Amino acid sequence: MKNLQLNNKWVLVTGASSGLGQEMARQLAHVHKANLIIAARRADKLNELKAELEQTAGVQVKVIVADLSIPEAADLLVAESIAEGNLYAAILNAGVTYFGRHTELEWDKFDSILKTNVIGVVRMTNALVKYFDKPGRQGGLMLVSSMAGFFPVPYQAAYSATKAFTTAFGNALHNELTNPDFSITVFAPGGIATEMTHGAEFEALQGWLMPVKQAAKEAIHALVTRKYNYVPGFFNRVGNVFMNFLPGKFIGSKMSKVYLRSLNKAQQGK
Ligand SMILES: NC(=O)c1ccc[n+]([C@@H]2O[C@H](COP(=O)([O-])OP(=O)(O)OC[C@H]3O[C@@H](n4cnc5c(N)ncnc54)[C@H](OP(=O)(O)O)[C@@H]3O)[C@@H](O)[C@H]2O)c1
Repeated sequence: MKNLQLNNKWVLVTGASSGLGQEMARQLAHVHKANLIIAARRADKLNELKAELEQTAGVQVKVIVADLSIPEAADLLVAESIAEGNLYAAILNAGVTYFGRHTELEWDKFDSILKTNVIGVVRMTNALVKYFDKPGRQGGLMLVSSMAGFFPVPYQAAYSATKAFTTAFGNALHNELTNPDFSITVFAPGGIATEMTHGAEFEALQGWLMPVKQAAKEAIHALVTRKYNYVPGFFNRVGNVFMNFLPGKFIGSKMSKVYLRSLNKAQQGK
């Protein structure tokens, strides 16, 4: 299977208004010279990024403002992205978390996490696979999951579960594909320094976070080289292998202590 060649090709990036998605968009434009379709809810952030990338990287950028927790909006985003038949790759990156006791997670917030991280991703994947999995069509799809999908994270129980879904779904679907020129990659980072991990509850965990530039660089490498599952960062990869030999209950109890300490510290600071 040949690597993807992104130069002058159209790539869809969801969740491009901040964090990992914004940085992947920047590197796709500057390093790979890809044209971009960028999507999220915050129009101002997307339009600023479009202006920046068109001026500094000389690529074309289309903005699609969409709330991907609404299934019809997710369908529309993909329909618009594939309308001209020239979409070459897609990165489904938009996601939300909740850090706190699961019993304190309000139902509406849980519903929104599920719709954004799971339902929207499945709706978009369904349409993208129908588009890409055809003889002669070149391309790649990357789902942004998390190491939290491999090792359930206490106090992010619902989030972890959505990411376990993403990983299982992406890996299983990869093995249903019929077009040898199309691949599905699951990207599973550990913590990254972004808006998602900016809140007080993550304060005590800042030392564990990977710089977003590194995460984005490794994410694009995973997409281009059509990795099956990819964990960025050497120590994360080693830890990921090592943790598979330990009982899940033991890992969970250790994580629980670290995360609870961070959560308590944030609550004391209020
Ligand atoms: N940060 C970490 O430690 C970490 C670790 C592992 C995996 N990840 C995953 O990496 C991905 C990117 O997260 P990040 O860390 O870059 O967080 P971030 O800075 O908060 O970015 C999240 C992006 O998703 C978009 N988004 C959220 N809800 C949306 C919705 N309903 N409709 C459309 N767009 C929506 C946000 O845009 P708008 O608000 O403008 O809509 C934003 O662009 C997520 O899937 C996350 O789970 C993050």
